[in-house]
Amino acid sequence: MDKLAYEIIDHEYDIVVVGAGGAGLRATLGMNAAGFSVACVSKIFPTRSHTVAAQGGISAALCNITEDDWRWHAYDTIKGSDWLGDQDAIEYMCKNAAKAVIELENFGVPFSRTEDGKIYQRSFGGMTTHFGKGKSAQRTCAASDKTGHAILHTLYQQCLKFGTEFFVEYFVIDLIMDHNTGSCCGVFAWSLCDGTLHRFWAHAVVLATGGYGRIYFSATSAYTCTGDGNGMVVRAGLPLEDMEFVQFHPTGIYGAGCLITEGCRGEGGYLINSQGERFMEHYTPKAKDLASRDVVSRAITTEIRKGRGVGPKKDHVYLTIAHLDPEVIKLRLPGISETAKTFAGVDVTKDPIPVIPTVHYTMGGIPTNYHGEVITLKNGQEEAVRGLFAIGEAACVSVHGANRLGSNSLLDLIVFGRAAALRTQDTIKPGVPHKKFSKDHTDWIIDKFNKMRFASGKLRVSQIRNQMQNTMQKYASVFRVSETLTEGTQAIKKVAEMMSDISVEDRSMIWNSNLVEALELTNMIPQAVITMECAANRKESRGAHAREDFPERDDANWMKHTLAWIGRKFNVKIDYKKVSDKTLSSDIEFIPPEKRIY
Ligand code: FUM
Repeated sequence: MDKLAYEIIDHEYDIVVVGAGGAGLRATLGMNAAGFSVACVSKIFPTRSHTVAAQGGISAALCNITEDDWRWHAYDTIKGSDWLGDQDAIEYMCKNAAKAVIELENFGVPFSRTEDGKIYQRSFGGMTTHFGKGKSAQRTCAASDKTGHAILHTLYQQCLKFGTEFFVEYFVIDLIMDHNTGSCCGVFAWSLCDGTLHRFWAHAVVLATGGYGRIYFSATSAYTCTGDGNGMVVRAGLPLEDMEFVQFHPTGIYGAGCLITEGCRGEGGYLINSQGERFMEHYTPKAKDLASRDVVSRAITTEIRKGRGVGPKKDHVYLTIAHLDPEVIKLRLPGISETAKTFAGVDVTKDPIPVIPTVHYTMGGIPTNYHGEVITLKNGQEEAVRGLFAIGEAACVSVHGANRLGSNSLLDLIVFGRAAALRTQDTIKPGVPHKKFSKDHTDWIIDKFNKMRFASGKLRVSQIRNQMQNTMQKYASVFRVSETLTEGTQAIKKVAEMMSDISVEDRSMIWNSNLVEALELTNMIPQAVITMECAANRKESRGAHAREDFPERDDANWMKHTLAWIGRKFNVKIDYKKVSDKTLSSDIEFIPPEKRIY
């Protein structure tokens, strides 16, 4: 195939934001408002981005219902992260949380209200008062159980108001790097609607491409959560951070994987086993069902392993909210009532919901500092990659460390979307001309695209994807052990090698979903390999990474972030990055590691 047969359209912008979820839209908005020309490029329509699925809420110490303090929020986040979170970034996020939520309210987010008209806040797992010594904090600001939907639509409307230029249903294939300087100078994209190819030249590229939950078989993540930005980053020779930490949400609907919000337990719901026991009381007597997610997911898995699961196969448990006032359910949990009816056939006012821990969030991702700038290691030193930012679930900033607390994700999107917009104002000037590159600078991307478009191996995309997802589900699950991780490492490498025998049957250029899925798989495979290898490498238990052969946290040897690079033959190289032990200001003291008890 002759590369010249393609029509390639060049665009020049100050900034290109890839992804139009909460993080991408908040960054775009801030950059537009600062006078930059911004292209927001998204493979799906903005309001279909996965932020739309976030249910329970966004955390901020507003003190609308219980007493609160952003420092308590920071403490809970650090504890939730099992001390792998960077305390400077956590301070930044929690300190800016109230401002971020009030800003959203001013933008028009229709938050639920208290009797006296304040933003309604509910309890969520691991959120406490008085540095973990007090009661549960009602800190999670909610728009019924559709908070992500409310935020995403509001941000999209604000972007329209600012005249944002959206490139919708454009699949970004790769970053365009300047190999002389190591900086990023744009992205190469394919327009799904008309089949044209596009080069977006920019002084800053912001990856807001979401997580990679779809490397697993059962995930609450949308089918679009394929970690495309992470895939581009590894192909650019840059590392990913802490990929072994994958969050299982305790309450995905059994068999369907859809999310049932933690807000159910925040409103008073609880988990029960086959004996009708409220079993969380045995695991975390104080926090009970509102312990952090990794703890609850392990408790459910243990109940099932001990034969106390429900259903004919005894392979899941129940979540009940049937004892709650039906008015509360109607007002605060209408979305999950509908989801439970549709996907489990359950009337939540009468019957319990069958649930099972389901992949929900990826704590790892593209390493960044708290300005959203992408970080790599050069001669053992941390260095920012010029022109490249990552925010939201794609990034590992790292505020969530080894385990994210529920409702800190929406906050992360908004706070760091805004932070990236602020940083570009310090580092870029609007309207500066772009460096010119030779016409063939991006030929390698076209060659790669052609190779996949005309791939004529024996294996369909879905066959390889299924193998990948089943392998991850089997070997890198809630509990992990050396034996199965070693097997898993070999198994996932075999799956990766299948990529050389892939076939794409549809050769067309317009809305070729077969080719989109093949390119997404190209992005997911290295992330699956890295996740498995990093899980085998980390010989301790911390947060969501629970090793049965190394059941304790080992701060002496493992209080460090993993950085992983991957080569063409899927060989993984691992190095480490220090966990930040500094705070940004004297407003909060560094919180030294403690045993994590709920
Ligand atoms: O359970 C939930 O509503 C999920 C929230 C989150 O992941 O932050």
